[in-house]
Amino acid sequence: MTEKGLREVVAAATSISDIDGSHGRLWYVGYEIEDLARNATFEETVYLLHHLHLPDRAELDELTDFMVEEREVSRFLRNLMPTLAQQTSPMSMLRTSVSAASAYDPDGWDNSAEANERKALRLISKTPTLLAMYHRMRTGLEVVPPNPKLPHAANFLTMLLGEEPSQEDADVLDTTFTLYADHTMNASTFTARIIASTLADMFSAITGAIACLKGPLHGGANEEAMKMLEEVGTPQRAEAYVADRLARKQKIMGFGHAVYKTMDPRAAVLKRLSREVGERHGDLRWFLISEEIERTVAEQKGLHPNVDFYAASVYHTLGIPTDLMTPIFAIARMTGWTAHVREQYADNRVIRPDSEYVGPRHQRYVPVDERT
Ligand SMILES: CC(C)(COP(=O)(O)OP(=O)(O)OC[C@H]1O[C@@H](n2cnc3c(N)ncnc32)[C@H](O)[C@@H]1OP(=O)(O)O)[C@@H](O)C(=O)NCCC(=O)NCCS
Repeated sequence: MTEKGLREVVAAATSISDIDGSHGRLWYVGYEIEDLARNATFEETVYLLHHLHLPDRAELDELTDFMVEEREVSRFLRNLMPTLAQQTSPMSMLRTSVSAASAYDPDGWDNSAEANERKALRLISKTPTLLAMYHRMRTGLEVVPPNPKLPHAANFLTMLLGEEPSQEDADVLDTTFTLYADHTMNASTFTARIIASTLADMFSAITGAIACLKGPLHGGANEEAMKMLEEVGTPQRAEAYVADRLARKQKIMGFGHAVYKTMDPRAAVLKRLSREVGERHGDLRWFLISEEIERTVAEQKGLHPNVDFYAASVYHTLGIPTDLMTPIFAIARMTGWTAHVREQYADNRVIRPDSEYVGPRHQRYVPVDERT
């Protein structure tokens, strides 16, 4: 029997990303994540994960133009949104909207490689619009239409917060999108590949991936990390908080990882961004609490932060509401999910693992009135 949770089982061959968990390294198509985080735009990352090479200028312009054109959402989704904004949580809205969007995709049920590339880019382009629209409606604010002059991340912040961000803030969000864009065979990506392996359509696979990301042990951890920072309140209270939680055998959200046995390299980048964005906004409180929690958890439990821990203080300082942090992870991870779905279609076999039966054997049916 393999270890519980399928640890170290290879479920697919991929050219998209790779992790060295013991040394804390992550590559997209052979590029170190730190290199991409510092130098690549999110649009370049989208191209890289879908084409397995960085774009030249013409390729990047073509992709960017297509993504800009695809930011608007269908009338069907615009009409659905007031109900969703009133009734559902952000992740449920995203899951329902992506499922509903399948009805209005211009490529319909065409499952060709070309149609799936377009569907992928549409999902990457439209989901930020959906999320911003949802937030504006639920808070009674006017919906801000996409601005074709702005890059992906800057446009999203503008639609969400109602004013154009500084170049620095837009760059920080852009970098977090690149950091969240893919992460090998994580639970939601595996879910998407399983669904794709039955040759179900792209929208079905992504709907399943969003459902999987929702859980607090996966994407939900950045929101839980932010709630923890608020509960801790000051760096001085971090040590007692961590000790108390560990004594009660509760997890510290944003720490530990199924694959990394050392610092998650994305967390290292986010830690730098958390300090930078805090200094620029004149509010280092969240960074300082985070740093103290990190020190204490390492001391008391020997665990390191994962991507979700420092993402919380970065997003909070950018003005992003806590319950949108996991959906923001989702709109960035849309890149990796859709790339993996396309990779699965390109070389497919139904994913169907085995199980080890541990229940009783040799039973015989007894009529209901004779059972004791
Ligand atoms: C990510 C996670 C699910 C990985 O789980 P995993 O590979 O199954 O690791 P385990 O749960 O087996 O952890 C091994 C040990 O570390 C402990 N541990 C792991 N993460 C912990 C955390 N965040 N806080 C406290 N203890 C933790 C486990 O309780 C276990 O301790 P034990 O040996 O005393 O029983 C787990 O670390 C976790 O729940 N983290 C918090 C949620 C989170 O941040 N998720 C985002 C992931 S990117």
